[in-house]
Parts: sequence; C-alpha cells; structure tokens
Amino acid sequence: MVRYQSALWLIALAIVVVGAALWLESQKQEGVGGASSTPKSLVTTIKGDPKTSRAFTWYTKSPDEAAVIQWIKGSGVNDYSGSGVQTLTGSTTTIKTDKKHTQGVHKVEITGLEPGTVYSYRVGSGKETGWSEPSSFVTEAEGTSAFSFINVTDSQGVTEKDFEIWGRTVDKAFQMFPEARFIVHNGDLTEDPEDETGWDHFFGKTKSWLKQIPFMPVTGNHDEMDKNADRYVAHFNLPVNGAEGSVPGTNYSYDYGNAHIVVLNTESNINEQSKWLRDDLAHSDKPWKIVAVHRGAYGGNSYTKIEKWTALFDEYKVDLVLQGHNHEYSRSYPLRNGKVAGSGDGPVVNHEGTVYVVTNASGAKFNEKKKDQFYHKVHFQNEKPMFAGITINGNSLTYQAYDVEGKKWDEFVIQH
Ligand SMILES: [Fe+2]
Repeated sequence: MVRYQSALWLIALAIVVVGAALWLESQKQEGVGGASSTPKSLVTTIKGDPKTSRAFTWYTKSPDEAAVIQWIKGSGVNDYSGSGVQTLTGSTTTIKTDKKHTQGVHKVEITGLEPGTVYSYRVGSGKETGWSEPSSFVTEAEGTSAFSFINVTDSQGVTEKDFEIWGRTVDKAFQMFPEARFIVHNGDLTEDPEDETGWDHFFGKTKSWLKQIPFMPVTGNHDEMDKNADRYVAHFNLPVNGAEGSVPGTNYSYDYGNAHIVVLNTESNINEQSKWLRDDLAHSDKPWKIVAVHRGAYGGNSYTKIEKWTALFDEYKVDLVLQGHNHEYSRSYPLRNGKVAGSGDGPVVNHEGTVYVVTNASGAKFNEKKKDQFYHKVHFQNEKPMFAGITINGNSLTYQAYDVEGKKWDEFVIQH
C-alpha cells in the first residue's frame, strides 16, 4: 500500500514538473509581456521635425491589432476620456518572429504638435483594455541652441542578464545627463536580430526611457546580416530621407537645435550613400555637423571601405563622428585628409579637424584592446560598460565619456 501511494506521489510530481517545463517553454516562445494585445517594445523616435512631430513603434503578440495613439497636452495625464484628447490610428504590419509565431508591428507618427511642450500619451489597439501605461514626451523648443544627448553603442546582448547591464548603462546615463533630449546608439543592438526574445529584453530593460526620449539607432553588422535588416528596421519609425537603394531606417538624417545629425549604414549601399552624403551635408545650414556610423573609419582599427565618406567629412567640416563596432574606447586626434591636424589637448578650434570616437560598449561584451594607431589620442580597454553625454551650448560642444559606475574616463571640447 505504502509503495502504491509513493508511486502515485511520484506520478503526480512528474506531471507537475513536466507541466511547469511546458509552461516555461510556452512563455519563452511567447516572449516577454502580458496579454497578446498589450503593447511591448514601445519606442519613440524622431521622424520629421522634432519641434512639431514625434513617431512611435510597438509590437503586440497579436498581429490583428490596430495601432492607436491618444495624446493630450500636459504631463502625468492618466485620464484619456476628456476633451483635449486626440486619437490617431497608424499602420499595423506583421512579422514572423519564429517558425510558429507572427507578431503585430505598430507604427504611428503624430504631427501638428506645439514646440517646447510636454504631452502625455498612451498606445493600444483602440479597444477599452490593453493600453500601455501612460507616458510623456516633450517637443523641441523653438530656437534651441543648448541641449545634451546620449551616445551608446554595441549593447549586443543575448540573455536577459546581458540586457540588464545595458539597462543599467542607460539608467546611469540619464542620472548623469537628466536633460538629454535623445539617444544615439551606434549599432549592434542585439547579438542576433532574428531572436525576438533579445529584442524583448533590449526594450524591456530600458522601457522607462525609450518610451519618452527619442532613440536614434545606427545599423550594425548584428542588425543587418547578409543585406537583410528586416527584423531591425521593423522596430523603429525613422526618417525616410536616405540614399536610393538604402533599406529605409538604416540611413537618414535629422536636425535637433543647431545640430545636423547624419546616420550612415556601413553594412550595404556604400557608394549610393556617398552621393547622398554630399547632397545631405551640402544642404545643411546647421553649424554643428555630427555623423554616426557603426564600423569606424578611425576607431580601434580603420574600416577602409568608407574612405569616400571621410573625404566628405573633411570637405564639409564634420565636427564629430560617433562610431561603434570595436567594443573598446578610442578617441582620435582632430583629423584632416587622413592626417593628424591638431594636438587634441585643448579645445578643437577653427574646424581644424574631425574627431572620431568609439564609446566602448554599453553591454556585456568587450574586445581585447587593438594595436595603437597614429590617429589615437586616447585608446583603452577598461572592460566597463560606457556611455557619453554630448552637450552643445552655442559655439561649444563638450563630449564626456563615463562608465556605468559614473567614473569619467575622457572629455574634450570642440569650439567654433
Ligand atoms: Fe558589436
């Protein structure tokens, strides 16, 4: 009898264990998040004029949901039933995220906003339930000539733990630069763009920031693979002003305040982007010109396929090139025509040269420090997740690089 009871207990235990394992597996398949219509991976971006517009992207596990946003002037608004609330429906497309699952990709852009104004918003399917937690954003003020933004690169995680590090880096960046107006990420957001669980964690660990502060990504070799950037670009609603033949969302430019920011894709369509870059830089009247790329012309090592671009950086006196890819820290001397054009000790003045930086990595992965090159003013591997705050104040730009613990590792100034 005792033996019979023990057997029953063992069978019951086995059922519980197998059931729990199956449930865990189903959770993994479904990704992170709640009900199928609940928005996840919500991220705001600049698409048009940041004074009067704002774009949003989110996913749901249900491919049939509409993309609805509601917004109202003021911060901390939780009631979306009153007057003054505006509603807009954007686009829903679908994406196959693994063999069994298709998710909804929801994108919307609000226009006609007032400059320098705080808005509250929420996104959902338009049904009574399943809305995002309300959040807020602020449009760029008229006449902005002083602001900060954050630069990070290569978060490139696989596991939830990897992305916890990425989350801590961004938390620290906003602790040090609470007024930062947007984030530039220099590529390799996740290790494998086909792994949607990685994206869930990428957005999940930074959700309090990415739903408020525009996130402007650069395409890395882990974002576009074999000329396919589908899984990466689906996550962002970005300017569509890039070169002919470039995958939309991988090459674009935008203005914020007195700065023009150009995002180039080192992974494909390089020649067409050269033509586009000349035109783009020639037509900008902004005093500050900043370029962001993944593989650096002057990073830990030198990516020679983009020499045509560096000639244009020289010609149009680009001030600063933000780079990624090397997973170590480097800052160049001011460079012109492939040569050192200044000491890099005091402020860079009179457009004497372009400064090229790699702000290490913002996640878990660090590379062995590469050989020093003639153009390296600062070059190290501290194996610390890092970020930089870039502050423009009229005629002066200050770049400050910190690690995740708040220790400053580098700083320089460019003056016009
Ligand atoms: Fe990388």
